Amino acid sequence: MMNIGILTISDRGARGEYEDRSGPVIAEVLAAETTWAVAERAIVPDEMEAIAATLRHWCDRGLNLILTTGGTGFAPRDITPEATRSVIERETPGIAEALRAESLKITRHAMLSRGVAGIRQRTLIINLPGSPKAVRENLAVLLPVLPHALELLADAPGSEQGHRSV
Ligand code: MTE
Repeated sequence: MMNIGILTISDRGARGEYEDRSGPVIAEVLAAETTWAVAERAIVPDEMEAIAATLRHWCDRGLNLILTTGGTGFAPRDITPEATRSVIERETPGIAEALRAESLKITRHAMLSRGVAGIRQRTLIINLPGSPKAVRENLAVLLPVLPHALELLADAPGSEQGHRSV
């Protein structure tokens, strides 16, 4: 079983002024993966320490994957990439490159996402943009690759065989 965390990063969402629609989209899309379970969900404001502390805590809990949504743009309080960089030990630039490259085929605005991805301990952390539409489009790019990525990270026995059978 792969355990997933979904972290929505939004000032208004954390204050309860705005209904989080992107976190539920991630949960809905992941529900199609029968061997994955959503183990943690939270909404935090666009604050460096709130984001970083949640990421560190979930990594310590041994989650396989954390998907964040929001706070990747140019607004003054958008700080998700910096908070993520502060906790990851190894950057995985190919993921962020692929997300932007595929998203650019849909909207030129994709170049405005500063999202990053990387590994802390055994946890892969990936920043997604904030809108439900962007979340769906980015997950469509990620999903075919994530099982193999998470197996490699977990160093699960049989992962190589699983890859060959794909
Ligand atoms: N990527 C995809 N695939 N589809 C989108 O609609 N929106 C963009 C971009 N990435 C978008 C996308 C926009 S408009 C912005 S401002 C940035 O993501 C950053 O979004 P965020 O600040 O909500 O994280």
